[in-house]
Amino acid sequence: MQGCIQRNSEILGVYLCSQQNVPRKTPEIVAVGGGKGGVGKSCFAVNTAVEIARKGYRVVLVDADLSCSNIETFLGTRSSRCLDDFFYQKGGKNLGAVICETPYENLRLVPGTTGLLDVANPKYQQKLALIRELRQLEADLVIVDLDAGAHLNTLDFFLLTDTNGILVITPEKTSIDNAFKFLRAALFRRIERFYQSPDVAQLLKRNETLSDFLDAIQVSDVFEPEIRDQVCGEMTALAQSLRPKIVVNKAHNAYEAQIASNILAKYARQYLRIEPVNLGFIYFDNCVSESVNAGTPFVVSHPTQKVSTCVADLANRLGYV
Ligand SMILES: Nc1ncnc2c1ncn2[C@@H]1O[C@H](COP(=O)(O)OP(=O)(O)OP(=O)(O)O)[C@@H](O)[C@H]1O
Ligand SMILES: [Mg+2]
Repeated sequence: MQGCIQRNSEILGVYLCSQQNVPRKTPEIVAVGGGKGGVGKSCFAVNTAVEIARKGYRVVLVDADLSCSNIETFLGTRSSRCLDDFFYQKGGKNLGAVICETPYENLRLVPGTTGLLDVANPKYQQKLALIRELRQLEADLVIVDLDAGAHLNTLDFFLLTDTNGILVITPEKTSIDNAFKFLRAALFRRIERFYQSPDVAQLLKRNETLSDFLDAIQVSDVFEPEIRDQVCGEMTALAQSLRPKIVVNKAHNAYEAQIASNILAKYARQYLRIEPVNLGFIYFDNCVSESVNAGTPFVVSHPTQKVSTCVADLANRLGYV
């Protein structure tokens, strides 16, 4: 039983920073996840990055899809550098050796992995080193494109970046369901790393929602009775410090997108005590796949198409006006 609780100061730091309105000197780091494959995470990340860079902000796009990176296909580029080089550097890690220019002004890229080495599973400290380096960059915004699924690497990148990550979903039950599971896995990972207690980890595995888990804490002997309320309060605060933004992609109309976003927000609030923010939506449009095949982001090849104005609106709502 834990009377004196250990907390992971690194996560406490992230949590406290998210509570304060400190003027930002380091770049904002936004992760793009969503659980389900093929929903348009990379399309959104690339086009939003290009759109924001065109407005004059210094943007860095990071291909952190460790199992199947493809940002360079979207950008129509091919560099000889890759994330493997960063993870396998000896001694102090230097992102400068990996980051490269793109054909778009103000946009730089950290290319993905080759998929050949052991990089698909970097250690926690390696991921932390990457995020630390990203925070040192001379940039306004860093957009990190993530894998599908809720692999630990994906969760860690989502949690190590700023707490307002972006969840891309489509207006389909399966996508909403996967995004909910992704959020739950992210929250439980955050709680697990915060307490670093095998007993807490065990209890998390046996519960499907935060409410069930908090009820279980009250009747288990993991924590002394006199601190259980305090611990539950901390866990709720950890949940509330996650404020993911929802983007509904491949929507046929605004109503359909709003419904999908509302459903995910309702489940997140009810079962996880997480309060997502609805950022907006992007229409389904065949020009997206044409632009992928052409290796040109659609905001460049089809600037007047509704999909492109949707991305411009989303960039504005992210604060890059
Ligand atoms: N708004 C859209 N309208 C029509 N098609 C789209 C739209 N957005 C994405 N697509 C199509 O969906 C495909 C998958 O998109 P993308 O690769 O961005 O998904 P992803 O979520 O990153 O997938 P993964 O999980 O495999 O990384 C794209 O190749 C594109 O053709
Ligand atoms: Mg992708």
